[in-house]
Amino acid sequence: MTVTDKIAPKEEPMIRLEELTKKYRGQQLPAVDRVTMDMPRGEIVVLVGPSGCGKTTTMELINRLIEPSSGRIHLDGEDVTTADPDTLRRRIGYVIQQIGLFPHHTVAENIGTVPRLLGWNKTKIDGRVDELLDLVGLEPGVFRKRYPKELSGGQRQRIGVARALAADPPVMLMDEPFGAIDPITRDRLQNEFLRLQQTVRKTIVFVTHDIDEAIKLGDRIAILGERSRIAQYDTPANILSNPASTYVEDFIGAGASLKRLNLSLVGDVALDTGAVTARIDGTAAEARDRLAKSERSALLLLDGQGRPQRWVDAADLERADGDLHRAGQPVSALVESAATLSYALNEMLTSNAGVALVVDGDGGFQGLLDFETVMVATRSVQRDSSEFYRAAKVAG
Ligand SMILES: Nc1ncnc2c1ncn2[C@@H]1O[C@H](COP(=O)(O)OP(=O)(O)OP(=O)(O)O)[C@@H](O)[C@H]1O
Ligand SMILES: [Mg+2]
Repeated sequence: MTVTDKIAPKEEPMIRLEELTKKYRGQQLPAVDRVTMDMPRGEIVVLVGPSGCGKTTTMELINRLIEPSSGRIHLDGEDVTTADPDTLRRRIGYVIQQIGLFPHHTVAENIGTVPRLLGWNKTKIDGRVDELLDLVGLEPGVFRKRYPKELSGGQRQRIGVARALAADPPVMLMDEPFGAIDPITRDRLQNEFLRLQQTVRKTIVFVTHDIDEAIKLGDRIAILGERSRIAQYDTPANILSNPASTYVEDFIGAGASLKRLNLSLVGDVALDTGAVTARIDGTAAEARDRLAKSERSALLLLDGQGRPQRWVDAADLERADGDLHRAGQPVSALVESAATLSYALNEMLTSNAGVALVVDGDGGFQGLLDFETVMVATRSVQRDSSEFYRAAKVAG
């Protein structure tokens, strides 16, 4: 056998469910009915569906907290349907619904649960606990010794994530981890979660019943119906552009085009780089001259570090008596290239500006983004994914 024979092909999914079924004792119908799906390595797969449709049951089948009635589970190419469940669960971090921290254990003891079971020594566990607290943005010195009741909901949620990551499992199951949190904190936790995933690159199965959360976080989304039956399993863009049924359409709800704007980043679209600019500490005469020689009706004044300060038109420059710091209007709608088009559009609308000013991390001016570009981008997301969809249907 050569070395390459041992390496699983890249396409091998991290998790494969085959006709997975769970019928609880005494129930007429199965709670999970013949679910078949592949979950690719390093991706976030979101299961979304109404209450009671079988999401938690599906998660508990994956890590064998409950035993399937029939069907198979493969993990990393290995059939684990009858593997030892304790060993299996060390490879799978689990953030249970309602987080489920142990109330009489400190934060450190909670995070150290699995390492302790694995027999790590105290020094190693303490080091790992502090490392994880840092990773989820909580100061170890402050939080290590607290009890769950001394934490906010968002902090508890982060401890839940840290605990699931403790033994560095390749797979994470997260059951509505942001369910009971206010929208603002929730948005922040989602952003942190995406940043964290950039670092840890786990295969994550994430449950929610919020379609917006699914679109924001998922590399793939499975829209589930009754008994965990898959109504559609695809990328967020494809689901928004080509909902497979009226059930999926209803689930997405109104505003699919607007939701699509959450899928494109400012950095993905071509910016207008033809803006006329001048230094705010330069002369009005020079600015006037530049504006006159251009096709544009307004000029952007930048500070010494190239950061946008004010918009001026020809009349403003006529009136300016040498000092440009009070000429025209202060700039608004500044966005970074990592922002979503949805965010940029919102900035344009709320600041009443016809364009957004795209800046780099230091605030330096990169280019302009206008409504037209945002609209074209929405349409091209739709076209790309419908072409992909057709190609996939032909191939299938
Ligand atoms: N231990 C059990 N015994 C019998 N039936 C159960 C058991 N656990 C769950 N069920 C039933 O199985 C179905 C699926 O439940 P499950 O908890 O998987 O739903 P869910 O999609 O996670 O819902 P929610 O969004 O409310 O958390 C429900 O009808 C539920 O009543
Ligand atoms: Mg549930």
